[in-house]
Amino acid sequence: MADRHVPIAHEADIVTARRQARELAIELGFDVLGQVRIATAVSELARNIIQYAGNGEITLSVAHDERRRGLALICSDQGPGIANLDLVLAGGISPVRGRGRGLTGARALLDEFRIETVPGRGTTIWGCKWLT
Ligand SMILES: Nc1ncnc2c1ncn2[C@@H]1O[C@H](COP(=O)(O)OP(=O)(O)O)[C@@H](O)[C@H]1O
Ligand SMILES: [Mg+2]
Repeated sequence: MADRHVPIAHEADIVTARRQARELAIELGFDVLGQVRIATAVSELARNIIQYAGNGEITLSVAHDERRRGLALICSDQGPGIANLDLVLAGGISPVRGRGRGLTGARALLDEFRIETVPGRGTTIWGCKWLT
């Protein structure tokens, strides 16, 4: 299964990323709940790229370890970076009611989640959902 590179630059790309994620999840054999979890995480991360970085890229691929397969994602942008990342991940930042759940939500929906962000340089997020 080939990697899927989805450029993220316009609102419509969020839909494309979501669809690509769901398609790969189906190919890998995720059940409907797994498909929805992955697609939801990917669309939140794509939305953040549009909102805060302007543009970036999401790569979807097949993950392997010794005993299982999964869906891996890498979201990268060269935007401003995430200020107060610790506070954001602690759920402490929600400027508007009902918001501020994108990153913590995506982390909860996936099995692996890692953020590397550098002020003024950009953000890279690695995520993975294992098939169980
Ligand atoms: N790719 C990104 N680049 C820069 N800042 C980001 C990025 N993604 C998230 N952020 C910052 O982290 C905060 C929390 O993001 P999120 O959890 O998705 O909540 P929301 O987008 O609703 O504010 C955002 O308000 C923004 O300041
Ligand atoms: Mg968000």
